[in-house]
Amino acid sequence: MNGFPRTAAMMTRGAAFLGSDHAILCGAMSWVSERNLVAAISNAGGFGVIACGAMSPELLDREITATKLLTAKPFGVNLITMHPGLFDLIEVCARHEVGHVVLAGGIPPKGSIEAIKAPRAGYGGGQVIVFAPTLALAKKLFRSGADALVIEGSEAGGHIGPVATSVLAQEFLPELAAEHLVFVAGGIGRGEGIAAYLEMGACGVQLGTRFACATESIAHPDFKKAFFRGNARDAVASVQVDPRLPVIPVRALKNKGTEAFTAKQIEVAARLDAGELDMSAAQLEIEHFWAGALRRAVIDGDIEHGSLMAGQSVGMVSKEEPVAQIMAQLLAESEAALARRAA
Ligand SMILES: Cc1cc2nc3c(=O)[nH]c(=O)nc-3n(C[C@H](O)[C@H](O)[C@H](O)COP(=O)(O)O)c2cc1C
Repeated sequence: MNGFPRTAAMMTRGAAFLGSDHAILCGAMSWVSERNLVAAISNAGGFGVIACGAMSPELLDREITATKLLTAKPFGVNLITMHPGLFDLIEVCARHEVGHVVLAGGIPPKGSIEAIKAPRAGYGGGQVIVFAPTLALAKKLFRSGADALVIEGSEAGGHIGPVATSVLAQEFLPELAAEHLVFVAGGIGRGEGIAAYLEMGACGVQLGTRFACATESIAHPDFKKAFFRGNARDAVASVQVDPRLPVIPVRALKNKGTEAFTAKQIEVAARLDAGELDMSAAQLEIEHFWAGALRRAVIDGDIEHGSLMAGQSVGMVSKEEPVAQIMAQLLAESEAALARRAA
């Protein structure tokens, strides 16, 4: 920590909130952010987040227990708001006294923020981290009790919004950063980027792509090789084929799976037309498609037909390195950038 005094000073609020040495979150990545990577991130002084994805409460319970065996440092759990068992998953987090719950994938449903924050015997309740696509919604979520916000730009890997990180940062940080905790995500691959957002008022940052292929990541070797080969321009956003079926775009390395997603949308849209599915069932089906395709790539190593979710910073991922080394490099780059400004 002492080796990076300028960065540490600018991360003070974020690190205090997370209970970590550095205000660097590794954003939850389905199938990738399991016990090994999460513990490695937290042990390296960052903040790991378990990706619950479509896990059942029992599976999440097991994953949290296993993660606790690998790290004594704080870590969080990312829950997808459209999960049908969201409130049961919140109870699992509370039972484990998880300090921070990230609500992702949509607007937090009524009562979910309160449920996470509710104190239990011997546990003061969890801190809630949310995403918000607009400034108005961000303000509303803070009024509703959210403790911190992640703004995530379209450069990111996985599900994305339409606006670039650089624009979101200029819109949100001047308005919110003095009073609220705002982390910036999307497209950050080096410490110079971290320094820039800290200077704009961010209390910390969230990275996914840069950590996905760390030595401790259980991702299949072929998945990792695809990342090492990939350039920024290969990480493309999926297209929406039917305007009536609002699918959230996903950024991934282009492959045959990209085409399969287009075909899947056409199929789901036809079933929507035929009245076989309602809109929420249609959207859930699309999400299950992604979860399955991502598993095929990350776990089975099917890099042709699976989903290689990756952000544009993939071009800055060139080899397998231990998390601690990546973290040290990011901090050193940030520190050097801030020192150059001060000179
Ligand atoms: C392979 C992969 C899977 C992801 N899965 C999830 C997820 O399950 N839930 C979530 O909230 N974000 C997910 N994300 C987004 C990350 O948490 C993070 O916010 C994002 O990667 C940050 O942008 P970057 O990739 O440019 O660093 C995923 C990203 C990747 C690359």
